[in-house]
Amino acid sequence: MFFTVVDIDQIKKRIESLRAAIAENNRRYYVDDSPVLSDYDFDMLMNELIALEKAHPELVTPDSPTQKVGSDLRKEFEQYPHRYPMLSLGNTYDITEVEAFAERAVKAIGSTFTFCCELKFDGTAICLTYRNGHLVRALTRGDGTVGDDVTANVLRIRNIPRDLQGSGYPDEFEIRGEIYMPYKAFDKLNEERLRDEEQPFANPRNAASGSLKLLDSREVSHRGLECTLYHLLGENLPFVTHDEALKAAALWGLPVSDKRKICRNISEIEEYIEYWDTARKSLPFATDGIVIKINELQCQRELGYTAKFPRWAVAYKFQAEQALTKLLSIDYQVGRTGAVTPVANLEPVLLSGTTVKRASLHNSDQMSLLDVRIGDYVYVEKGGEIIPKITGVALDRRGPDVSMPEFPDRCPDCGTPLVRDEGEARYFCPNTDGCPTQIKGKLVHFISRKAMNVIAGDATIDQLYNLGYVKSPADFYGLTREQLLHLEGWKDRAAQRFLDSIEASKATGFDHVLFALGIRYVGETTAKSLARHFGDIDSLMAADRDTLLSVDDIGEVIADSILAYFAKPSNVAEIGRLREAGLKFSVGEQEIQASSALEGQTIVISGNFSIPREEMKKLIVLNGGKNSSSVSGKTSFLLAGEKPGPEKIRKAGALGIKVMGEAEFMQLISGAGTSGNGTEAAGAAVQPTLF
Ligand code: IVH
Repeated sequence: MFFTVVDIDQIKKRIESLRAAIAENNRRYYVDDSPVLSDYDFDMLMNELIALEKAHPELVTPDSPTQKVGSDLRKEFEQYPHRYPMLSLGNTYDITEVEAFAERAVKAIGSTFTFCCELKFDGTAICLTYRNGHLVRALTRGDGTVGDDVTANVLRIRNIPRDLQGSGYPDEFEIRGEIYMPYKAFDKLNEERLRDEEQPFANPRNAASGSLKLLDSREVSHRGLECTLYHLLGENLPFVTHDEALKAAALWGLPVSDKRKICRNISEIEEYIEYWDTARKSLPFATDGIVIKINELQCQRELGYTAKFPRWAVAYKFQAEQALTKLLSIDYQVGRTGAVTPVANLEPVLLSGTTVKRASLHNSDQMSLLDVRIGDYVYVEKGGEIIPKITGVALDRRGPDVSMPEFPDRCPDCGTPLVRDEGEARYFCPNTDGCPTQIKGKLVHFISRKAMNVIAGDATIDQLYNLGYVKSPADFYGLTREQLLHLEGWKDRAAQRFLDSIEASKATGFDHVLFALGIRYVGETTAKSLARHFGDIDSLMAADRDTLLSVDDIGEVIADSILAYFAKPSNVAEIGRLREAGLKFSVGEQEIQASSALEGQTIVISGNFSIPREEMKKLIVLNGGKNSSSVSGKTSFLLAGEKPGPEKIRKAGALGIKVMGEAEFMQLISGAGTSGNGTEAAGAAVQPTLF
């Protein structure tokens, strides 16, 4: 046997890079609700870190992700401390580790005890406090010590009672569980989001977590969230077992799953796991494993907790569902950064409730690693991503007429020879300024919801580009109504809506503008860090490599990419044009307090606008106005978007209250002078600000 002597510095480096990758993915998972790694891949990173730290305990630090739960705190909510720390569960994909858990418990406990096996619901954790039978607070897990107060939102969830029924409940107790989104509600929500050209949620878990953290609790009612509760906590609770506590909770009207089972030994646990590994596919909601808990509360107390997990429970996670299907062909897609991604076209196959026809092959290295051929039968899995991925080839089913795929050496769009930088797994088309697919990709990114949030689909961008109207982002701000009327099927209303949306985008904060520029590796979070650190584009452009490296989360790859971006005169010129168009290139502009354009005015809004309603309301307040929900004699004007409520319109008419459209309103608060219909906009003399 050979042993490799590994340099301790190398181990330290690996630990650091694992911690950085885990932290980044925790943020994407818990804060952005938009994971890029599958749960399995994430767990593998974590397992590698745990193994390295176990072998080198001197390298463990208190802030290592192995020592604390990932935080999902958001500054928009009030935070409160958890009475009892809200921990996570140790998890495994390996049944022998469940056996080891059961054996350890037998050894540690000594007396007879049972296990309570439950479904592991794939949602977001919640902690409810009931006092004298009333729900008084709902907190998210947060960082395990403090949580976000989401009580108003939780009260909008159908099966969470505000008041308990029956009797015998403790004066005060906490009950914890999971908020999840059933598949049906998830599909409906994503359909709506696609229709509204919003980014769909990657999976029901992210949709549940994103919905629970909506700032408008009325919207939560429409999201179809549900709750299941699985852990009762409190002082001097009168129960001997966990199962008994859950039975009592169900009698008080709390939603508790009836799918749990008391098991006496490992073979009964395994039977339960095996049964649900198949049966869960017919459940109307997502589960990602089984939780095995020691049922006797006294035994739970004896076993206690580590810093992160209870020692009395473990989660066995199911492998992501796989399907086997035939690889028909491979497309090579160019992205907005020029990266070329191989995408497989598959014989349609059913996977976790949806038909899959395309799957990612990531890059040429991955293709070689898989040794994949056209005509092969391949395994497809859904990870955290929307596009499923190919994870393996069924070599035993390879037929004689398979053919070797050929990764192109030229850009499939513009024909430029592809390049591959050192350390890069992907090939790139270097023709960033001339490759139509890249240019269109950049335009689509620029207007996307998390960037400038202009409402338009890919087809519109295609047309605008093909007609030569928009070749770079700054061109959006010079578009005219006449040009838009040349687009296929566009009439006045569509053109006006689009122009309003472009106008409204000028209010977008500097951090989003920076993200919208599409600098390679500068994602949303990095853009926020840069905006916060530098305050304005000039300071950022003047920063040297060391200054960039001193910013939180900025490493060498990002720093070099930023330097390369600003070194290109065409990028600097583009920023100049965007600046001239009125976009915000400093945080200062973003923070200037509102104008008094709407001072003393009470405004009711109704219908859909080119920006979210919440943003519209913020605009009103920031410019000195007051929002009101119903039209009355005190209403100054009714701000009506698309499809306003007929009752509101009728009432405004009856009371002689002005109905104002979005465009006129935007002019009013931006003091732009004349409004669309040629009349002088009120308030043009004051100096109002959008944000
Ligand atoms: S018990 C002290 N039971 O899975 C921890 N958790 O991956 C008590 N989860 O943080 C948790 N179903 O959010 C428990 N039946 C179940 C569960 C469950 C889902 C979640 C929970 C936990 C996470 C760990």
